[in-house]
Amino acid sequence: MRAITFDAPGDEDVLNLTDVDAPAPGPGEVLITVAAAGINNADLLQRRGKYPVPPGASEILGLECSGTIAALGEGVTGWSVGDEVCVLLTGGGYAEQVAVPAEQLLPIPAGISLEEAAALPEVACTVYSNIGMVAGLKPGQSLLVHGGGSGIGTHAIQWAHALGARVFTTAGSAQKLDAARQLGADVAINYRDEDFAERIAEETSGSGVDVILDIIGAPYLEPNLKSLANNGHLVIIGTMGGMRTELNLGLMLSKRASVTATTLRARPLHEKAEIVAAVRENVWPLIESGQIKPMVDTVLPLDQAAEAHRILAEGRAVGKVLLKP
Ligand SMILES: NC(=O)c1ccc[n+]([C@@H]2O[C@H](COP(=O)([O-])OP(=O)(O)OC[C@H]3O[C@@H](n4cnc5c(N)ncnc54)[C@H](OP(=O)(O)O)[C@@H]3O)[C@@H](O)[C@H]2O)c1
Repeated sequence: MRAITFDAPGDEDVLNLTDVDAPAPGPGEVLITVAAAGINNADLLQRRGKYPVPPGASEILGLECSGTIAALGEGVTGWSVGDEVCVLLTGGGYAEQVAVPAEQLLPIPAGISLEEAAALPEVACTVYSNIGMVAGLKPGQSLLVHGGGSGIGTHAIQWAHALGARVFTTAGSAQKLDAARQLGADVAINYRDEDFAERIAEETSGSGVDVILDIIGAPYLEPNLKSLANNGHLVIIGTMGGMRTELNLGLMLSKRASVTATTLRARPLHEKAEIVAAVRENVWPLIESGQIKPMVDTVLPLDQAAEAHRILAEGRAVGKVLLKP
């Protein structure tokens, strides 16, 4: 089969379209013929040699895809050859075929095309597992999500708005701020022009937000803690701005704040299975009712993986970039 591979870490141009052996589905796995694969920021880190592949995972990039079941491994029940699905992967999506544990499969939501569905698994599982399962955001509470134009941000805004939360977001351009407002953000803050912590304090009369989903990491730790309400929960899922900083425990103590940092890819299969099942139960109905839309910015052929990575690196997309084998 054809797949995107690279011999050594480096810039976008290390990515090559090559012929490799197609995977065979092991026990409990399903072989998918890929229709479209989503690009994630983690893929860019892996290409640069900054994201070690978890043990046993494919070396091929790609953490999500949609496609058609081509074969079932031993012991798989509940799915049939020919079913259209979208899939949370631990790797292997930038290819014509990929093998994946059956627990990581989701049906295509009614009303969504097979191609668009490739934009859903990673954002839906990340957002629901962190804002829903870890932080327990409730209707009437408030959420701040950084990177309102990102794949994660565009989904998080829609999910929290559908839940009935007040949504704050940050982004760095008028285009992304407008998109965030259209998706349901109540307050969209340009982080290049404004101190977001000051704006949150103004907008909440000093009481802060209940939950923060952060992708920036070190430089935002202090302003995030300042922006949290009492008993608030900060969930860090990305370190785009850096990993090391000081933690002001005084701020945490006085607010009885919690800080959690998580990554989806490294979780064991039983935890991914639990998240995928919860997403199917709690998020899929919101997609089928039109309250959450897959946000596809650009679709490129598989051999343009390098350009797809450049679009993410330069922050040109609002929502997701997909590759089509
Ligand atoms: N832990 C996990 O399980 C997990 C899973 C999925 C994703 N992630 C992480 O989540 C992050 C987003 O991923 P993605 O694939 O959705 O990325 P993406 O679509 O490439 O978006 C990244 C966004 O960050 C924005 N941004 C950059 N600096 C910012 C700042 N200082 N303040 C606010 N926004 C800023 C960029 O746009 P502007 O600067 O133009 O606004 C861009 O929209 C990445 O760090 C990724 O690694 C983690």
